[in-house]
Amino acid sequence: MGYRQFSFLLFVCFCQLSFSSSIPHSCRKDQSTALLKFNKTLTLDPSLVTCSSYSYTSSWNKSRDCCSWDGVICDKMTGCVIELNLSCSGLVGKIDSNSSLFQLSHLQRLDLSSNNFSNSHISPEFGRFSSLTLLDLSDSYFSGHIPSEISHLSQLQSLRLSPSFETILRLTAHDLKLLLQNLTQLRELDLTSINISSTIPPNFSSHLTTLRMGNTYGIIPESIFHLPNLETLVLQNNNQLSGYFPKTKWNSSASLIELDLSGVNFSDNLPESIGYLTSLHSLSLKNCNLRGPIPEALLNLTLIEDLDLQYNSLNGTIPSGMFSLPSLSRLVLSNNHFSGQFEDFNSNSLIWIDLSNNQLQGHLPRSIQNHVNLTGLILSFNNFSGHVDVSFLADLKQLYYLDLSYNRISLTNENKHNVTLPGSLMSLQLAACEVKELEFLRSAKLLWQLDLSNNKIQGRIPDWAWTNWMFLLQRLNLSHNMLESVDSIPLLFIEAIDLRSNLLQGSLPIPPISIRFFFISHNNLTEEIPSDICNLTSLVMLDMARNNLKGAIPQCLGNISGLEVLDVHHNSLSGTLPTTFRIGSALKSFNFHGNKLEGKIPQSLTNCKQLDVLDLGDNHLSDAFPVWLGTLPKLKVLSLRSNKLHGSIRSLPTGNMFPQLRILDLSSNAFTKNLPTSLFQHLKAMRTVDQTMNAPSDEGNRYYQDSVALITKGLELEVVRILFLYTTVDLSNNKFEGFIPSIMGDLIALCVLNLSHNGLQGHIPPSLGSLSSVESLDLSRNHLIGEIPARFASLTSLEVLNLSYNHLEGCIPRGPQFYTFENNSYEGNDRLRGFPLSKGCGNDGNDSETNCHDPSLGPRRDRRMGKPKEPQTSLIAYHYTSLVAEAIKMTISDKHNQGEIGTKGARKKKGMIHKYHR
Ligand SMILES: *[C@@H]1O[C@H](CO)[C@@H](O)[C@H](O)[C@H]1NC(C)=O
Ligand SMILES: *[C@@H]1O[C@H](CO)[C@@H](O)[C@H](O)[C@H]1NC(C)=O
Ligand SMILES: *[C@@H]1O[C@H](CO)[C@@H](O)[C@H](O)[C@H]1NC(C)=O
Ligand SMILES: *[C@@H]1O[C@H](CO)[C@@H](O)[C@H](O)[C@H]1NC(C)=O
Ligand SMILES: *[C@@H]1O[C@H](CO)[C@@H](O)[C@H](O)[C@H]1NC(C)=O
Ligand SMILES: *[C@@H]1O[C@H](CO)[C@@H](O)[C@H](O)[C@H]1NC(C)=O
Ligand SMILES: *[C@@H]1O[C@H](CO)[C@@H](O)[C@H](O)[C@H]1NC(C)=O
Repeated sequence: MGYRQFSFLLFVCFCQLSFSSSIPHSCRKDQSTALLKFNKTLTLDPSLVTCSSYSYTSSWNKSRDCCSWDGVICDKMTGCVIELNLSCSGLVGKIDSNSSLFQLSHLQRLDLSSNNFSNSHISPEFGRFSSLTLLDLSDSYFSGHIPSEISHLSQLQSLRLSPSFETILRLTAHDLKLLLQNLTQLRELDLTSINISSTIPPNFSSHLTTLRMGNTYGIIPESIFHLPNLETLVLQNNNQLSGYFPKTKWNSSASLIELDLSGVNFSDNLPESIGYLTSLHSLSLKNCNLRGPIPEALLNLTLIEDLDLQYNSLNGTIPSGMFSLPSLSRLVLSNNHFSGQFEDFNSNSLIWIDLSNNQLQGHLPRSIQNHVNLTGLILSFNNFSGHVDVSFLADLKQLYYLDLSYNRISLTNENKHNVTLPGSLMSLQLAACEVKELEFLRSAKLLWQLDLSNNKIQGRIPDWAWTNWMFLLQRLNLSHNMLESVDSIPLLFIEAIDLRSNLLQGSLPIPPISIRFFFISHNNLTEEIPSDICNLTSLVMLDMARNNLKGAIPQCLGNISGLEVLDVHHNSLSGTLPTTFRIGSALKSFNFHGNKLEGKIPQSLTNCKQLDVLDLGDNHLSDAFPVWLGTLPKLKVLSLRSNKLHGSIRSLPTGNMFPQLRILDLSSNAFTKNLPTSLFQHLKAMRTVDQTMNAPSDEGNRYYQDSVALITKGLELEVVRILFLYTTVDLSNNKFEGFIPSIMGDLIALCVLNLSHNGLQGHIPPSLGSLSSVESLDLSRNHLIGEIPARFASLTSLEVLNLSYNHLEGCIPRGPQFYTFENNSYEGNDRLRGFPLSKGCGNDGNDSETNCHDPSLGPRRDRRMGKPKEPQTSLIAYHYTSLVAEAIKMTISDKHNQGEIGTKGARKKKGMIHKYHR
């Protein structure tokens, strides 16, 4: 400390002294020493130098004057370094408080952005650069707290600190306040993605031209909208922030050029006053909870190049003037409620149009074919109709992203062999467009993503297609077609292939080793799974369910370290399960339901700590209850139904067993002895009603459910919804005996409880009347005696009740639900009385026995008599949807990225590119 302090002072003196001399100076020795020392602490990673052409420091050379080094500028009079610009120089290293960087005390501009100083905090020493006017440490992997010393830099005009992706930088509310108080010269403040956790203070310098802020909350101070010189305002991804649009004229000097308030909650209409912002070039209000129509005033913004209003609830028609705004190049109105037609349009500027997920209808406007500059056209998930001929798109020679999926469009190709889609296409999505053959793709040799799912493609994929796609295609979706054979998949860099629901026969085609997602379920594949499949070391999801695969499972499947989903349900596989699951296994979902597997449940499954779903139902497994599975912390679904499992069910003496379990299906085995009271004492997730499991509400899930509706058919959708709700215990069809433990009444989240077909004795515990969510209760075919507990009358969710074939007696309780059950709920209990049975129960409707009438329950409600829910189906649905959800997530993120590429492209063209887009 002492030494550093001393040498620091020394340097200051040198530079001050030299200042008095009038001879122009070359680099001072002390300055070059500091630079060289600094350079020594860093290494170069050329792979980081993507944003500039080369690394400045690599040209630094001791034998030359340091003032002539790239990125270094000296004061001509003093020879002190006043500017250091090492932005995007591929530098890697640590900058701590001892760094000789801090000896360059005369710096006025310091730019270290876009390097990799990971493990570095922003040192308080930065506060010593008292002459700094620019400090840029953004995207350089600095992490931790931003020191309050930054507010000493009172000359600063530009401060950019936004962190790198997935790096966390924090700024306290207090320090933000100090910073704004002291830095009165600020023009540009970039705190994008910084964790501020504060409200936004109202006192910004009136010089401010650029403001980018990270995670804040509260309400945007209206004063920001009135800053007279503000050109850029970006408060994106502040999802705890809300705001009100100024109703009158705002930003009165109309200086705003870029406005991005994505994610801020406005809960309002877009105001007419937006029309005053006549200098705007870019407006992004995505996911802002906007409603109502687009105001005509928006058409006053004639300089707008980029308009993004996706993920709102805007409705009405899209003003036709929108398609002739003279500067608009990127128009994104997806995920709203716009209706009406998409009219003929005439714009020389539009290059990217995204209107997906609305309710637009009619034919696609003919004029699209004239828009030869179009690069992206995304119209999926609307009600567009009619034939779209390939020739219609053939002239769009710049088009690289086209998505017409899920409308009522039929793609035609009248002039079959001579017209094809533009060769520029990189992403093509034509799901559910009545596509019958691939000929129209002959020129599309740059495709990296192709979705032709839900079409009518028959036979086999032609050889020319494989040849064209070999080097670039990464995502291929041909699911839900009528393909009959795929012998090999010669695509060198493919990451995801979806061939579900075709008519594929023969043996399993093995994709190349680049594959991460491979879906080939619902086909007619036969023969054994080749052991080559274990060479696919990048696999994340493998779905081969619902085929006719035979033979043993390659044991090595347990070794693929990144595999998260392995699904082979409903095949004819025999032999034993793989036993080689390793510690650190990524496996989340493991489904072997409906095969012919024998032997034991491998204990190495306890190495799969991420396991969510384990379904081994409907096999020939022979083992004791695998109580050790209880140690898996995330297991939600365990189905071992229909096997040959036996013995009593023990619980481990200690610990929190099955803490997340929501579905436990042990039915149709040969378990004996008492029901596992000690197990029911655990099962934490079944003891609390978790609202979040009932109401998936975030954006992702909304999309996900809609998409499932399209992918599955009506009936299955029902099942998919059930899966979030149905907490289930099914122990039916075993050889359990003894009493029903009253502790089962603590499992209040249960929706389905099935204990039927066992040898249970004694009374039904009244505690089961606490199962307020239970919709299906089956205790049939046991030896239960006594009365039906009166508390059952309050089970208002109960839709299915089966108590048949026991030895129950007395009066059937009365309650709203009990009016809906029919005789078959009770048959085989000769001594039961009351509605709906013929034997009455005293004076019907007027009975004094509390057991039979509780007037507080009110009049009879009409409720749908639900069909019994088949737990097996819901298990399969659970699994199936988790796959689909993942796949869809993949597509979404993809589309998102594409959109961003689109933006950047558009901006670059206009010279408006911003460095820190994520
Ligand atoms: C500066 O460091 C880079 C590597 O990080 C090295 O290539 C270069 O030679 C160094 N320059 C000097 C003058 O030491
Ligand atoms: C404000 O800046 C001055 C130097 O310009 C400094 O002395 C003072 O400590 C700073 N105040 C805060 C709160 O940082
Ligand atoms: C939009 O422009 C029209 C005509 O140019 C003008 O009358 C109207 O006041 C403007 N609206 C706003 C909100 O700027
Ligand atoms: C737009 O939505 C509002 C409710 O937010 C509704 O009152 C109005 O009728 C809708 N307009 C159209 C054209 O659908
Ligand atoms: C296509 O772009 C060029 C220049 O970028 C422009 O001159 C031309 O008018 C545009 N054409 C159409 C139909 O948009
Ligand atoms: C297709 O193009 C070939 C030459 O490339 C020509 O001979 C043939 O007549 C064309 N067919 C049609 C239907 O236009
Ligand atoms: C499945 O393939 C077998 C022969 O491999 C054939 O007999 C059977 O009809 C096929 N099933 C379907 C649904 O195509």
